[in-house]
Amino acid sequence: MKIDWDNEDLLDYDIRKQMSIAAEKAVLCEGIRSECAIHVCLCDDDMITDINQKYRGISSSTDVLSFPSVDYPPGHTASQCEHRLRMEYDDESGACFLGDIIISVPHVKKQAAEYGHTELREACYLLIHGVCHLMGYDHIDPEDKENMRKMEEEILTALSITRDSDNTSSVENTLLSLAREAMKKSYSPYSSYPVGAALHCIDGRIFTGCNIENASFGLTNCAERTAMFKAVSEGARGFDIIAIAANTKPWPCGACRQVLNEFAPDIRVLVTWDGHVEEKPLRDLLPEGFGPDSM
Ligand code: THU
Repeated sequence: MKIDWDNEDLLDYDIRKQMSIAAEKAVLCEGIRSECAIHVCLCDDDMITDINQKYRGISSSTDVLSFPSVDYPPGHTASQCEHRLRMEYDDESGACFLGDIIISVPHVKKQAAEYGHTELREACYLLIHGVCHLMGYDHIDPEDKENMRKMEEEILTALSITRDSDNTSSVENTLLSLAREAMKKSYSPYSSYPVGAALHCIDGRIFTGCNIENASFGLTNCAERTAMFKAVSEGARGFDIIAIAANTKPWPCGACRQVLNEFAPDIRVLVTWDGHVEEKPLRDLLPEGFGPDSM
């Protein structure tokens, strides 16, 4: 997904980064195969009021406006008529232009405070709502509205942004419970020692992993490395927290410490077992570690 931003300084880099991931996920969830592009204009309330007046004849401010470039047949969304989308292919960007989204930053801040969640979550939600419109979704009649809400939920879930993810529990608690969940997927018939891990990326994504054993014992992959390799192979690079769950205190093995050190020497390591939680920085678990900066 290519995003052309206007007034990008109105939102922090971290929030915009996660918004880009959200837009990408929206297109993936819809099942669009072509490379897509959107234009996102961040603005203040006066500007969105002017645009609302000019293009919709409504003289009030709003949170998000979307202007699809594709004319979808009634009842159709982008994945059902990708040929129409391809007509919006632009040589210069090498992508199909889905349309424009205007987001009022004061609304992002105000609504986040009202709902008691983060600005990041609100900004992602508004962008997802806008991208859904650009993909042909609408909420005028009840059936369409239900489909649009379903799609928005699917995208938020794919991003691990759930209704209560940032007001009833901290990132740490979310990671600890995801690590415990991941333990249930463990393939450990030889050791009978299931391990789960949940790795938090600085772009907000979370990747989980479990230990995967093998009849040729040495080929076993630990939970931490499964999570890390999943993440790196999806393009993630920066990591700040990993949670590891097992039935006894699961400080990571030497190999996993080394792999964590490659990408995240400053990562916080949380372990949980039998209702207990402990935390140490990787720097304490791998002092004087050998890493990319050592050469
Ligand atoms: N294991 C992990 O998943 N992570 C570690 O850091 C230590 C060990 C797994 C590997 C094997 O499947 C089982 O625990 C027993 O060694």
